[in-house]
Order: sequence, then structure tokens, then C-alpha cells
Amino acid sequence: MDDFDLVIRGGTVVTAADTARADVGIRDGRIAAVGLDLPGGRRTIDADGLLVMPGGIDSHVHLAQPAFGGPAMADGFESGTRSAIAGGNTTVLPFALQARGTSLREAVAAYHHEADGQSYCDYGFHLIVTDPTPAVLGQELPALVEDGYSSLKVFMTYDDMVLNDRELLEVFDAAGDCGALVMVHCEGYDAIRFMTERLERAGKTAPYYHAVSRPEPVEREAAHRAITHSEITGVPIMIVHVSGREAMEQIRWARGRGLRILGETCAQYVSLTADDLKGLNMDETGGKYVCSPPPRDRESWEAIWNGIATGVFQTFSSDHCPFFFEGPLGKMNPKARTSFRWVPNGIPGVEVRMPILFSEGVVKARISLQEFVALTSTNHARIYGLGGRKGSIAPGHDADIVLWDPERRVTISQEIMHHGADYTPWEGFEVTGWPQATILRGEVVMREGEILGARGSGGFLRRDRSPMAGRARGAFA
Ligand code: URP
Ligand code: ZN
Ligand code: ZN
Ligand code: ZN
Repeated sequence: MDDFDLVIRGGTVVTAADTARADVGIRDGRIAAVGLDLPGGRRTIDADGLLVMPGGIDSHVHLAQPAFGGPAMADGFESGTRSAIAGGNTTVLPFALQARGTSLREAVAAYHHEADGQSYCDYGFHLIVTDPTPAVLGQELPALVEDGYSSLKVFMTYDDMVLNDRELLEVFDAAGDCGALVMVHCEGYDAIRFMTERLERAGKTAPYYHAVSRPEPVEREAAHRAITHSEITGVPIMIVHVSGREAMEQIRWARGRGLRILGETCAQYVSLTADDLKGLNMDETGGKYVCSPPPRDRESWEAIWNGIATGVFQTFSSDHCPFFFEGPLGKMNPKARTSFRWVPNGIPGVEVRMPILFSEGVVKARISLQEFVALTSTNHARIYGLGGRKGSIAPGHDADIVLWDPERRVTISQEIMHHGADYTPWEGFEVTGWPQATILRGEVVMREGEILGARGSGGFLRRDRSPMAGRARGAFA
């Protein structure tokens, strides 16, 4: 009965609901007991002075995904998940991208092939729908949702992925029928094209102009349009990677109308600014920060903190989307030097997401420890169909735990990163609070930056339908 495989002793256990001094007893990879003075286990970890929190769940990462017509990503599943566990995560949810003209099943098979035997943490897949044919929406999607791929992402921009309004409506409607949760990348394609061409004609091609080509109104307009489509179809959506006040206020407005609109923000939107894209004197190092939506300004950070504090955002993710900086396949490849338009979008962040939120959020008293756990783990589990299994420290849950040193001061640098990229956008950024150890289903897989888990020890997660998904009682549906 009391034969725990592992007891984590003397730490401060934090969940989305409570903080308490308690021991955690683990048996067969699951949490078996949380309480005071648990009997000894076969192994014991002394967690005195540490926070014992649910392992991070990063529900927005890109691994082994080709850049849109550009270079290959710097992380496959091996290095990407190595970086994830080094940053205190135990689950990631990357994407299976449908190439136009192919099926969703082909995409899923290809990404499984990439992930099989490679991952250091557990993982599931969101689908990216780029070719919403009647067969894809009517047959493939419902079958895949049944098989555990219970969420999908659609894009309102990018040449190879953009859906028009009619297509968005068809996808939302189909998702409502089969209970898939829809994530939406909200940036308006036509406005970006217009701005991009105008900037290029004026010779404004440096990486910084990426940010100028997609200002906040571009994101706000698309968010409003996606919300409208959600209302028309009666299908809830998650607006991902919200960068600032404008799109955020659309979510707030929609909630006020009783619509079920969820929101995600990311570490870059409270810690980087568009000025970072200027590099040194508008040079090409600015390419290191090119992502979409682009980081805005310091006022924006405060707006995002306000959105976090007032519940606009349920999840805080990395949108980890790493490319090399140097070399012919890097962000500043020869074509990218001719215009920001060709710089692959995305930055590596899975390893620093939790430290940045802890340091900027908890340490600076903007959020509570409970909110930290909700934003980095519990809400991701609940929203993406892993509730009851992941995201909490409670009996029956997988023993996915991060032991967190709340006082450790670290200067982020490429030298200490575990990712495949050759730089970190947060070089020199100082944080307080760092993961001391990561425990995946009862096994210590990372300790003091050292990877102890075996490649392939992470498994595929068939996810349930999201409790947030399905058809709401829409006004018109
Ligand atoms: O720039 C970014 N965020 N690239 C990743 C793809 C996406 O839109 O999430
Ligand atoms: Zn046992
Ligand atoms: Zn996106
Ligand atoms: Zn993304």
C-alpha cells in the first residue's frame, strides 16, 4: 500500500488551486499521495526550499516543421524536447502541418515519423488545416479528433497557409460538428501584403520593417473577424499568440458579449520589443527576433500583464519556432537579406518560457504562484483535453513535476540552452527562478541542466475533446 517508488519530501507543493508544504508519493509513474510525513519510498528526493509544481505544458511549439517555403527548422523532436525538459516542461503540443493538396492523415503520419523514439517528454499534435476540402473537413477531421488529435490551427496570413473567410467559416463549422478546438493565427493577409510591398518599394527591407509591416491594427482586425466567424458559427476559438492591447481588447469585448473566446499570449510579448528587430543600427542581427505577430513595446507588456491578471489569457506559451541565425539556411539566408519578407518567422523559447513568466510575473508580484501554474500547465491540460491526467499534483495524475528553485538567479545565454538553434533572443536577460529538476512520469529526466532521461522516453498523448470545444448556443447557428 505505502510502497512508493519515489517520495518528494519537504517541498512546497503548488497547484492552480493551493500552495502547501507537503510530500508527494509516486507509484508506477503516477501521483499516489500528497500529504504530510508520507512513509519512505524506494527513492527520496529532498525538496526543501524548492517549489514542487506540475511540469510545464507548452501547448504551442513547432518542431520539425519546414519554414514556409524556406529553411528547415533548427529543432526536431530530439533537440526540441531536450530543450523543453531543460526548461521544466513535461509535455509539448507541436503541430502536424497539412501541405496543400495532401491529406491530414499524411501530415499526421509524417510528424509521427519525426517524433517516434525521439522525444524526451510527452507530446500530442494539433493539426494545421491549410486545405479544407469537403473530404478533409467531413471525413478526416472527425476521425482524427476521435483518434486524439482534438485541436487544429488555422492561419489568416502566410502565402502557403492562409484561409479566406469562407474557408475559415467552413473549418469553424466542421470543428463545431466534431468537437475540435480551433486555434486561430490572427493577422490580416491583405493588409500585410499591402504594407510589405509599400515598404519594399521605399527600400525599407531590413528585418525591423517586418514589425512595421504588421502593426497592431492588422492583428486586431483579424481577431475581430475571427471572433465574428466564431459568433456566426457558434463555435468557440482560441486566439493564439496575442501580442498587445488591440487584439486583447477584442477578446475582452467578445467575452462581454457572452462568446467563448479563449486567449493565449507568449513570453516574447512581455519581454521583447520591436526595437530588438533593429539590431545594432538596423543591421541584420535584428533577424534574430523576427516572429509573428512581432513583439511590440513596453506599454504593450503592461497591457498583456493586465490581460493576464484579468483572465483574458488562459495560457502562456512559447510559440517555440526555432531557426538558425547563421549560415545559408539561417534566418538571414541570402534571400532573406534582400527583404524582411523572406526571413523565416519564429524564435526559440520553449526553454525560457517558464523562467520568464516566473521572474517577470511571480517575482515581480504581477501574478500569484497559483496563476503561474495555471498559465504554464493546468489550463493547457484542461483546454487541450488532458485534464485529469496532466497539469496537476493530485492523486491519479501522471507524476509530471518540476522542482523549482525560486531564488536561483540565472543570466540566459546561448551557452546554457539545450535547443538546436545557434542563438537565443534572450541573450543576457536576467531571471530569478529556474527549474532544478524535471520529473516525467516519476523519472528524473533533467537535473541541474543535465539531461538524464532517455531519448524516446516521451510518449504520444491521445487527447480527449476539449471541454471548451463544440457548438456553443450561437446566435445564428
Ligand atoms: O513567427 C512565428 N510565430 N512563427 C511560428 C508560426 C506561427 O504562426 O505560430
Ligand atoms: Zn511500483
Ligand atoms: Zn501563428
Ligand atoms: Zn506558432
